[in-house]
Amino acid sequence: MAVSHYESVKRVAILGVTGSIGRQALDVVGANQELELVAAQSGSTPIDGLAPLTQVGGDPVELLERADADVVLNAVVGFAGIRATMWALEHGVTLALANKESLVAGGELAVAAWRRGGGLLLPVDSEHSAAFQCLEGRSAESIAGLVLTASGGPFRGRTRTELEDVTPEDALAHPTWNMGPKITIDSATLGNKGLELLEAHFLFDLPYDRIELVVHPTSIVHALVRFRDGASLAHLGYPDMRVPISFALTYPNRAATAITQLDLASGLTLEFHAPDFETFPLPALAREAGERGGTFPCAFNAANEVAVQAFLDGRIAFLDIAAAVEDVLARVDGAPARDLDELVEADRRARELVPVA
Ligand SMILES: NC(=O)c1ccc[n+]([C@@H]2O[C@H](COP(=O)([O-])OP(=O)(O)OC[C@H]3O[C@@H](n4cnc5c(N)ncnc54)[C@H](OP(=O)(O)O)[C@@H]3O)[C@@H](O)[C@H]2O)c1
Repeated sequence: MAVSHYESVKRVAILGVTGSIGRQALDVVGANQELELVAAQSGSTPIDGLAPLTQVGGDPVELLERADADVVLNAVVGFAGIRATMWALEHGVTLALANKESLVAGGELAVAAWRRGGGLLLPVDSEHSAAFQCLEGRSAESIAGLVLTASGGPFRGRTRTELEDVTPEDALAHPTWNMGPKITIDSATLGNKGLELLEAHFLFDLPYDRIELVVHPTSIVHALVRFRDGASLAHLGYPDMRVPISFALTYPNRAATAITQLDLASGLTLEFHAPDFETFPLPALAREAGERGGTFPCAFNAANEVAVQAFLDGRIAFLDIAAAVEDVLARVDGAPARDLDELVEADRRARELVPVA
């Protein structure tokens, strides 16, 4: 019989509880006696009675201070999640992070807060959860590189001309994952892989030239780590976000879930292709923003958020999203932020520069 590492019940706070990740996290908590929901926040949807402490919108800091949670799941979408991420990192409270935008934008400031706080930062993004598991316990010198997989989204294989007139409805039809609208568009532009490249750099302290992106249409292999001896370790499973959510919330116990095991005998094949960075320029722009450092990743994220919303509202075309990000990155100074106020200011300035009506 398995012996639990965690003797008492774990107190969980979920921010972004009404979203795709938030709702799946509620399923995970509901199915696990080791976990107890103590606080929840949404952006605007009423959530009275969902948890002992609830809040709709606003600054989450007071809620988090009162909640006394063992683990904070940040499943807010976009830069709006920055205060919760910074608070948990600074206070050394275990952070289960789905809200990649906050780590990308927070960048070096977030990493410094994480070092000071000394807590656990457990990625919920499926690729990063997979990478974390492949990397855990390995020495930095033994690692040759990390490979993040991308499904390629609904427009894989299309040319730029074929993408000129695609609509939000076309872009929202993702082949393998069922997610909130912003990340679904990010998957269609490959902007999501750009964000994930930056996220991996900050999470695992890997230089950008050691992080590869590869297209893998069925999303079975979530990440692969290459070692200096020529061996590679990969993480496989059907695409289901409850696996990385459960991994992060029950870490290090890896609690049981009801998710189906891989059926290898059914003829599972694993296909990989090089991404088309000319048709989908956002990963290359993210890499460049990361290499420039400072608040360039923050500007990448801010411009992308505004442009994705403009596309969803029908104000700009699909190809304009990457063009807008490129334009903003050429115009910001990217000066490092010394504190959260300066970061919020860098985010605001980048948003203002996005050329949308
Ligand atoms: N969905 C996935 O499978 C997936 C996979 C990997 C990573 N992620 C990441 O997880 C995060 C959440 O994605 P999602 O797909 O779950 O998004 P989603 O379905 O759009 O849900 C977003 C959640 O954030 C809340 N929210 C929005 N603005 C807020 C604010 N200002 N303050 C507090 N809460 C706010 C929303 O509340 P309301 O309902 O009240 O608007 C909702 O609960 C994103 O960073 C995404 O990149 C998602």
